[in-house]
Amino acid sequence: MSFRPTLPLYKKSSTSWLARQSRDPFVKARMSSPSSYRSRSAYKLIELNDKWGRFLSRPSVRSVVDLGAAPGGWSQVVAERLGWTMDAEDNAEDFGLREEAKVQKRGSWSVEPKNKTAGRGKIVALDLLPIIPIPGVQTLQMDFLAPGSARVVRDALKSSQNPEGTSDIVLSDMAANFSGSKIRDSQMSLDICHAVFDFAKDALTVRQVDERGKVYGGGILLLKHFAHPLLQEFRKECLEPNFHLVHYIKPESSRADSAEGYWLCRGWLGKT
Ligand SMILES: C[S@@+](CC[C@H](N)C(=O)[O-])C[C@H]1O[C@@H](n2cnc3c(N)ncnc32)[C@H](O)[C@@H]1O
Repeated sequence: MSFRPTLPLYKKSSTSWLARQSRDPFVKARMSSPSSYRSRSAYKLIELNDKWGRFLSRPSVRSVVDLGAAPGGWSQVVAERLGWTMDAEDNAEDFGLREEAKVQKRGSWSVEPKNKTAGRGKIVALDLLPIIPIPGVQTLQMDFLAPGSARVVRDALKSSQNPEGTSDIVLSDMAANFSGSKIRDSQMSLDICHAVFDFAKDALTVRQVDERGKVYGGGILLLKHFAHPLLQEFRKECLEPNFHLVHYIKPESSRADSAEGYWLCRGWLGKT
């Protein structure tokens, strides 16, 4: 299949996203902080991680996949939690919304972080859209629903410590553009959930319990979806039998009028 590494391009379609972000009171409040993220979604992941056991920050986490990652807010959060750092100047100037606004004027992007510090493990981020580089994150610009995409992501995860290309955590904030038809939109959400689950079931590390009851591994899946009865069936048939724990979460930082929610699935049992 065809794919290409993400190129640092700027597209006009980001203009409406930037305008919406600049009006958002939640983002405005956060923008006064020196550490700014590229997306409102970043604060959902921070909230979920903080409230649910800081699963991203555990030292055992060595490989993370971020699906539907553009513009890169979640990947920025993951990179930070895995120890990738930028100095304050890089963070505020090169990786925040302020810089995206500058890119709009400049029309292109080719800035690499100046003072990056190595973190641990591997982070692979994928989207249909380009993602501006983030230290510690390998980006892929491709359609995750296209045949062969799972293999490309698994290959990108491989390293001498991880020859099989397994993943400790799979994150999916993927969402198709709304079509205006509720039936079509929920079908798209279901298709995405199935594709992510099919990927996760092969890629996630399996939960092991030793004779003394100590638990090892057990991959985590964080999956965005949109409320629909079909998606409840998906939860019962695919998620609940295969994970130790499955929680439905509506983060406070998620817009109240949005039908989106997340399943946090912990402890991949490897049964399927
Ligand atoms: C809500 S945004 C993700 C925001 C991201 N988590 C962040 O913090 O910056 C949803 C993303 O899903 C991507 N997406 C939708 N369908 C996709 C597909 N089939 N393959 C890859 N990415 C897809 C969209 O391009 C969009 O960037």
